[in-house]
Amino acid sequence: MERETHSHKTIGGYIPLELSKGELYYPDLIALNTGRNALEYVLRTRKYATIYLPYYTCEVLLEPLQKLNVQYHFYYIDEDLDPVIDFEIGEHCCLLYTNYFGLKTETVKKLAKKIKNLIIDNAQAFFSKPVNNCDTFYSCRKFFGVPDGAYLNISNTLGLNLKQDQSTDRFAHLIKSIDVNIEEGYTDYIENNKQLCNNEIKMMSVLTKTILSSIDYDKCADIRRKNFAYLDEQLGQENILRLNFSREDVPMVYPLLVEDPSIKQQLINQKIFVATYWPNVYEWAHVDSYEYFLAKHLVSLPIDHRYSIADMKVIVKALKPLI
Ligand SMILES: Cc1ncc(COP(=O)(O)O)c(C=O)c1O
Repeated sequence: MERETHSHKTIGGYIPLELSKGELYYPDLIALNTGRNALEYVLRTRKYATIYLPYYTCEVLLEPLQKLNVQYHFYYIDEDLDPVIDFEIGEHCCLLYTNYFGLKTETVKKLAKKIKNLIIDNAQAFFSKPVNNCDTFYSCRKFFGVPDGAYLNISNTLGLNLKQDQSTDRFAHLIKSIDVNIEEGYTDYIENNKQLCNNEIKMMSVLTKTILSSIDYDKCADIRRKNFAYLDEQLGQENILRLNFSREDVPMVYPLLVEDPSIKQQLINQKIFVATYWPNVYEWAHVDSYEYFLAKHLVSLPIDHRYSIADMKVIVKALKPLI
Protein backbone atom coordinates (compact mmCIF):
# COMPACT_ATOMS: atom_id res chain seq x y z
CA MET A 1 0.00 0.00 0.00
CA GLU A 2 2.68 2.40 1.04
CA ARG A 3 4.59 1.73 -2.16
CA GLU A 4 1.63 2.59 -4.28
CA THR A 5 1.18 5.97 -2.59
CA HIS A 6 4.85 6.73 -3.14
CA SER A 7 4.67 5.93 -6.85
CA HIS A 8 2.03 8.70 -7.27
CA LYS A 9 3.71 11.43 -5.30
CA THR A 10 7.22 12.73 -5.81
CA ILE A 11 9.06 13.55 -2.65
CA GLY A 12 11.99 15.95 -2.53
CA GLY A 13 13.58 17.94 -5.33
CA TYR A 14 13.46 21.71 -5.61
CA ILE A 15 10.84 23.90 -3.92
CA PRO A 16 7.99 24.93 -6.23
CA LEU A 17 6.35 28.35 -6.47
CA GLU A 18 4.76 29.06 -3.11
CA LEU A 19 1.06 29.90 -3.04
CA SER A 20 -1.24 29.84 -0.06
CA LYS A 21 -3.80 27.05 -0.04
CA GLY A 22 -7.39 28.14 0.26
CA GLU A 23 -10.78 27.48 -1.28
CA LEU A 24 -12.02 27.99 -4.80
CA TYR A 25 -14.94 30.41 -5.15
CA TYR A 26 -16.97 27.94 -7.23
CA PRO A 27 -15.79 24.47 -6.17
CA ASP A 28 -18.99 22.86 -7.50
CA LEU A 29 -19.04 24.37 -10.98
CA ILE A 30 -17.33 22.85 -14.01
CA ALA A 31 -13.86 24.38 -14.28
CA LEU A 32 -12.86 24.93 -17.92
CA ASN A 33 -10.16 26.76 -19.91
CA THR A 34 -12.01 29.82 -21.26
CA GLY A 35 -15.35 31.60 -21.10
CA ARG A 36 -15.94 31.17 -24.84
CA ASN A 37 -15.36 27.42 -24.48
CA ALA A 38 -17.84 27.35 -21.60
CA LEU A 39 -20.34 28.82 -24.08
CA GLU A 40 -19.38 26.10 -26.56
CA TYR A 41 -20.03 23.53 -23.83
CA VAL A 42 -23.54 24.94 -23.31
CA LEU A 43 -24.33 25.03 -27.03
CA ARG A 44 -23.15 21.46 -27.52
CA THR A 45 -25.06 20.20 -24.50
CA ARG A 46 -28.33 21.95 -25.32
CA LYS A 47 -27.98 21.56 -29.11
CA TYR A 48 -29.33 25.05 -29.78
CA ALA A 49 -29.57 25.91 -33.47
CA THR A 50 -29.88 29.69 -33.02
CA ILE A 51 -28.65 32.17 -30.46
CA TYR A 52 -29.64 35.78 -29.80
CA LEU A 53 -26.74 37.76 -28.44
CA PRO A 54 -26.28 41.43 -27.69
CA TYR A 55 -24.58 43.82 -30.10
CA TYR A 56 -22.87 45.06 -26.98
CA THR A 57 -20.52 42.21 -26.17
CA CYS A 58 -17.12 40.75 -26.93
CA GLU A 59 -16.40 39.32 -30.36
CA VAL A 60 -14.71 36.17 -29.05
CA LEU A 61 -18.19 34.83 -28.32
CA LEU A 62 -18.60 34.31 -32.05
CA GLU A 63 -15.85 31.67 -31.98
CA PRO A 64 -18.01 28.78 -30.71
CA LEU A 65 -20.94 29.89 -32.89
CA GLN A 66 -18.87 29.70 -36.04
CA LYS A 67 -17.26 26.45 -34.94
CA LEU A 68 -20.60 24.74 -34.28
CA ASN A 69 -22.46 26.45 -37.09
CA VAL A 70 -24.98 27.99 -34.73
CA GLN A 71 -26.96 30.79 -36.36
CA TYR A 72 -26.76 34.09 -34.52
CA HIS A 73 -28.83 37.25 -34.41
CA PHE A 74 -27.92 40.38 -32.50
CA TYR A 75 -30.31 42.24 -30.23
CA TYR A 76 -30.25 45.74 -28.75
CA ILE A 77 -30.11 46.81 -25.13
CA ASP A 78 -31.87 49.84 -23.66
CA GLU A 79 -30.45 52.67 -21.57
CA ASP A 80 -30.60 50.49 -18.44
CA LEU A 81 -28.51 47.89 -20.29
CA ASP A 82 -31.55 45.59 -20.26
CA PRO A 83 -32.31 43.50 -23.35
CA VAL A 84 -34.89 44.70 -25.87
CA ILE A 85 -36.68 41.44 -26.59
CA ASP A 86 -38.98 42.13 -29.53
CA PHE A 87 -38.62 38.67 -31.06
CA GLU A 88 -39.77 35.12 -30.30
CA ILE A 89 -37.24 32.74 -28.79
CA GLY A 90 -38.18 29.42 -30.38
CA GLU A 91 -37.66 25.94 -28.97
CA HIS A 92 -34.16 25.41 -30.36
CA CYS A 93 -33.15 29.01 -29.85
CA CYS A 94 -31.56 30.65 -26.84
CA LEU A 95 -30.87 34.12 -25.53
CA LEU A 96 -27.49 35.13 -24.15
CA TYR A 97 -27.44 38.03 -21.73
CA THR A 98 -24.31 39.67 -20.34
CA ASN A 99 -24.35 40.75 -16.72
CA TYR A 100 -22.78 44.12 -17.60
CA PHE A 101 -20.03 45.25 -15.26
CA GLY A 102 -21.44 42.90 -12.61
CA LEU A 103 -24.28 45.38 -12.07
CA LYS A 104 -27.16 43.60 -13.77
CA THR A 105 -27.96 40.70 -11.46
CA GLU A 106 -31.49 42.06 -10.90
CA THR A 107 -32.10 41.85 -14.65
CA VAL A 108 -30.62 38.34 -14.69
CA LYS A 109 -33.14 37.36 -11.98
CA LYS A 110 -36.06 38.79 -13.98
CA LEU A 111 -34.94 37.09 -17.20
CA ALA A 112 -34.41 33.77 -15.43
CA LYS A 113 -38.08 33.82 -14.39
CA LYS A 114 -39.48 34.38 -17.85
CA ILE A 115 -37.02 32.95 -20.39
CA LYS A 116 -36.53 29.22 -20.67
CA ASN A 117 -33.51 28.97 -22.94
CA LEU A 118 -31.33 31.52 -21.23
CA ILE A 119 -27.53 31.67 -21.05
CA ILE A 120 -25.96 34.12 -18.64
CA ASP A 121 -22.53 35.50 -19.45
CA ASN A 122 -21.02 36.44 -16.10
CA ALA A 123 -17.55 37.18 -17.52
CA GLN A 124 -17.98 40.67 -16.03
CA ALA A 125 -19.71 39.42 -12.89
CA PHE A 126 -17.45 36.87 -11.25
CA PHE A 127 -19.10 37.15 -7.85
CA SER A 128 -22.70 36.89 -9.08
CA LYS A 129 -23.79 33.34 -8.31
CA PRO A 130 -25.94 31.40 -10.80
CA VAL A 131 -29.63 32.31 -10.59
CA ASN A 132 -32.42 29.70 -10.85
CA ASN A 133 -29.80 27.15 -11.91
CA CYS A 134 -29.55 28.91 -15.28
CA ASP A 135 -26.73 27.97 -17.66
CA THR A 136 -24.14 30.50 -16.53
CA PHE A 137 -20.47 30.99 -17.33
CA TYR A 138 -17.59 33.02 -15.90
CA SER A 139 -14.14 34.04 -17.14
CA CYS A 140 -11.59 34.24 -14.31
CA ARG A 141 -8.94 36.46 -15.91
CA LYS A 142 -11.21 39.52 -15.92
CA PHE A 143 -11.11 39.59 -12.12
CA PHE A 144 -7.88 37.91 -11.04
CA GLY A 145 -4.25 37.57 -12.09
CA VAL A 146 -4.63 34.34 -14.04
CA PRO A 147 -4.05 33.88 -17.78
CA ASP A 148 -7.19 31.79 -18.45
CA GLY A 149 -9.84 29.79 -16.66
CA ALA A 150 -13.62 29.69 -16.65
CA TYR A 151 -16.47 28.25 -14.66
CA LEU A 152 -19.69 26.84 -15.95
CA ASN A 153 -22.97 26.14 -14.21
CA ILE A 154 -25.03 23.65 -16.20
CA SER A 155 -27.28 20.84 -15.06
CA ASN A 156 -26.17 18.31 -17.73
CA THR A 157 -22.60 17.34 -18.44
CA LEU A 158 -21.28 16.56 -21.89
CA GLY A 159 -19.88 13.21 -20.83
CA LEU A 160 -16.70 13.94 -22.73
CA ASN A 161 -13.31 13.06 -21.40
CA LEU A 162 -11.82 16.53 -21.56
CA LYS A 163 -8.07 17.05 -21.60
CA GLN A 164 -6.56 19.25 -18.94
CA ASP A 165 -5.22 22.60 -20.06
CA GLN A 166 -1.67 23.74 -19.24
CA SER A 167 -1.05 27.44 -18.67
CA THR A 168 2.73 27.48 -18.18
CA ASP A 169 3.45 29.39 -21.42
CA ARG A 170 0.84 32.06 -20.81
CA PHE A 171 2.33 33.79 -17.82
CA ALA A 172 4.71 36.33 -19.38
CA HIS A 173 2.37 39.32 -18.91
CA LEU A 174 1.49 38.37 -15.35
CA ILE A 175 5.09 37.87 -14.30
CA LYS A 176 6.36 40.97 -16.11
CA SER A 177 3.71 43.12 -14.46
CA ILE A 178 5.32 42.28 -11.12
CA ASP A 179 8.99 42.10 -12.11
CA VAL A 180 9.11 44.99 -14.61
CA ASN A 181 5.84 46.92 -14.92
CA ILE A 182 2.39 46.60 -16.43
CA GLU A 183 3.28 48.52 -19.60
CA GLU A 184 6.19 46.18 -20.39
CA GLY A 185 3.87 43.22 -20.08
CA TYR A 186 1.22 44.67 -22.40
CA THR A 187 2.51 43.06 -25.62
CA ASP A 188 2.58 39.70 -23.84
CA TYR A 189 -0.97 40.30 -22.68
CA ILE A 190 -2.07 40.85 -26.29
CA GLU A 191 -0.15 37.71 -27.28
CA ASN A 192 -1.93 35.77 -24.54
CA ASN A 193 -5.29 36.97 -25.88
CA LYS A 194 -4.30 35.49 -29.24
CA GLN A 195 -3.22 32.23 -27.62
CA LEU A 196 -6.67 31.86 -26.12
CA CYS A 197 -8.34 31.83 -29.55
CA ASN A 198 -9.51 28.64 -31.23
CA ASN A 199 -8.68 26.13 -28.53
CA GLU A 200 -10.68 23.02 -27.79
CA ILE A 201 -12.70 22.80 -24.58
CA LYS A 202 -10.35 21.70 -21.81
CA MET A 203 -10.46 21.44 -18.06
CA MET A 204 -8.96 24.38 -16.21
CA SER A 205 -5.20 23.99 -15.73
CA VAL A 206 -3.85 22.94 -12.35
CA LEU A 207 -1.76 26.11 -12.28
CA THR A 208 -4.75 28.42 -12.78
CA LYS A 209 -6.75 26.43 -10.24
CA THR A 210 -3.93 26.60 -7.71
CA ILE A 211 -3.70 30.37 -8.08
CA LEU A 212 -7.48 30.71 -7.85
CA SER A 213 -7.48 28.75 -4.62
CA SER A 214 -4.97 31.16 -3.08
CA ILE A 215 -7.23 34.21 -3.31
CA ASP A 216 -9.03 35.91 -0.43
CA TYR A 217 -12.34 36.37 -2.23
CA ASP A 218 -14.18 38.18 0.55
CA LYS A 219 -11.43 40.75 0.76
CA CYS A 220 -11.37 41.25 -3.02
CA ALA A 221 -15.15 41.69 -3.13
CA ASP A 222 -15.10 44.13 -0.23
CA ILE A 223 -12.40 46.32 -1.80
CA ARG A 224 -14.26 46.41 -5.12
CA ARG A 225 -17.49 47.48 -3.41
CA LYS A 226 -15.77 50.20 -1.38
CA ASN A 227 -13.84 51.61 -4.35
CA PHE A 228 -16.99 51.55 -6.47
CA ALA A 229 -19.03 53.32 -3.77
CA TYR A 230 -16.37 56.01 -3.45
CA LEU A 231 -16.28 56.68 -7.20
CA ASP A 232 -20.05 56.76 -7.35
CA GLU A 233 -20.19 59.26 -4.51
CA GLN A 234 -17.64 61.48 -6.26
CA LEU A 235 -18.68 61.05 -9.90
CA GLY A 236 -22.27 59.78 -9.81
CA GLN A 237 -23.66 63.29 -10.55
CA GLU A 238 -21.74 63.42 -13.81
CA ASN A 239 -22.60 59.87 -14.84
CA ILE A 240 -25.27 59.72 -17.53
CA LEU A 241 -25.55 55.94 -17.09
CA ARG A 242 -28.30 55.07 -14.60
CA LEU A 243 -26.77 52.65 -12.12
CA ASN A 244 -29.24 50.63 -10.10
CA PHE A 245 -26.78 48.60 -8.15
CA SER A 246 -27.60 46.67 -5.04
CA ARG A 247 -25.40 46.17 -1.98
CA GLU A 248 -24.74 42.57 -3.03
CA ASP A 249 -23.26 43.49 -6.42
CA VAL A 250 -19.49 43.17 -6.81
CA PRO A 251 -18.76 45.31 -9.87
CA MET A 252 -15.96 44.73 -12.35
CA VAL A 253 -15.29 48.44 -13.00
CA TYR A 254 -17.00 51.78 -12.34
CA PRO A 255 -18.73 52.52 -15.66
CA LEU A 256 -18.71 56.29 -16.11
CA LEU A 257 -20.72 57.37 -19.14
CA VAL A 258 -19.93 60.88 -20.32
CA GLU A 259 -20.79 63.03 -23.34
CA ASP A 260 -17.18 63.83 -24.17
CA PRO A 261 -15.62 60.90 -26.06
CA SER A 262 -12.09 62.22 -25.54
CA ILE A 263 -12.06 61.56 -21.78
CA LYS A 264 -10.83 57.97 -22.20
CA GLN A 265 -7.76 59.06 -24.13
CA GLN A 266 -7.08 61.93 -21.76
CA LEU A 267 -6.98 59.48 -18.85
CA ILE A 268 -4.76 57.06 -20.75
CA ASN A 269 -2.39 59.99 -21.43
CA GLN A 270 -2.15 60.37 -17.65
CA LYS A 271 -1.37 56.64 -17.31
CA ILE A 272 -4.82 55.75 -16.04
CA PHE A 273 -5.57 52.81 -18.29
CA VAL A 274 -9.22 52.31 -19.19
CA ALA A 275 -10.36 49.54 -21.51
CA THR A 276 -12.92 49.92 -24.30
CA TYR A 277 -15.86 47.55 -24.08
CA TRP A 278 -15.80 46.47 -26.87
CA PRO A 279 -13.94 47.72 -30.00
CA ASN A 280 -15.83 45.21 -32.20
CA VAL A 281 -19.08 47.05 -31.38
CA TYR A 282 -17.90 49.84 -33.76
CA GLU A 283 -18.10 47.28 -36.55
CA TRP A 284 -21.23 45.46 -35.45
CA ALA A 285 -23.57 48.26 -34.43
CA HIS A 286 -24.86 51.29 -36.31
CA VAL A 287 -23.07 54.55 -35.59
CA ASP A 288 -26.36 55.99 -34.23
CA SER A 289 -27.02 53.09 -31.87
CA TYR A 290 -26.79 53.21 -28.08
CA GLU A 291 -24.29 50.35 -28.25
CA TYR A 292 -21.95 52.45 -30.42
CA PHE A 293 -22.35 55.33 -27.99
CA LEU A 294 -21.46 53.05 -25.06
CA ALA A 295 -18.35 51.71 -26.79
CA LYS A 296 -17.20 55.24 -27.54
CA HIS A 297 -18.20 57.16 -24.41
CA LEU A 298 -18.09 54.73 -21.53
CA VAL A 299 -15.06 55.16 -19.31
CA SER A 300 -14.50 51.95 -17.34
CA LEU A 301 -12.62 53.00 -14.23
CA PRO A 302 -10.61 50.31 -12.43
CA ILE A 303 -11.80 49.56 -8.89
CA ASP A 304 -10.22 46.17 -8.28
CA HIS A 305 -8.45 44.82 -5.21
CA ARG A 306 -5.08 46.29 -6.24
CA TYR A 307 -6.43 49.71 -5.34
CA SER A 308 -7.31 51.66 -2.24
CA ILE A 309 -9.42 54.78 -1.72
CA ALA A 310 -6.19 56.78 -2.10
CA ASP A 311 -5.92 55.45 -5.68
CA MET A 312 -9.57 56.28 -6.30
CA LYS A 313 -8.78 59.85 -5.20
CA VAL A 314 -6.06 60.01 -7.86
CA ILE A 315 -8.61 58.95 -10.49
CA VAL A 316 -11.17 61.50 -9.28
CA LYS A 317 -8.56 64.25 -9.22
CA ALA A 318 -7.57 63.46 -12.81
CA LEU A 319 -11.19 63.34 -13.95
CA LYS A 320 -12.73 66.34 -12.20
CA PRO A 321 -11.14 68.98 -14.46
CA LEU A 322 -12.19 66.98 -17.55
CA ILE A 323 -15.90 66.48 -16.83
C1 LIG B 1 -18.48 39.71 -21.94
C2 LIG B 1 -17.47 38.65 -22.26
N1 LIG B 1 -17.88 37.37 -22.31
C3 LIG B 1 -17.03 36.36 -22.57
C4 LIG B 1 -15.70 36.60 -22.81
C5 LIG B 1 -14.83 35.43 -23.12
O1 LIG B 1 -14.04 35.02 -22.04
P1 LIG B 1 -12.69 34.20 -22.33
O2 LIG B 1 -11.68 35.19 -22.78
O3 LIG B 1 -12.38 33.56 -21.01
O4 LIG B 1 -13.03 33.22 -23.39
C6 LIG B 1 -15.22 37.92 -22.79
C7 LIG B 1 -13.82 38.29 -23.06
O5 LIG B 1 -12.93 37.65 -23.49
C8 LIG B 1 -16.13 38.96 -22.48
O6 LIG B 1 -15.73 40.24 -22.43
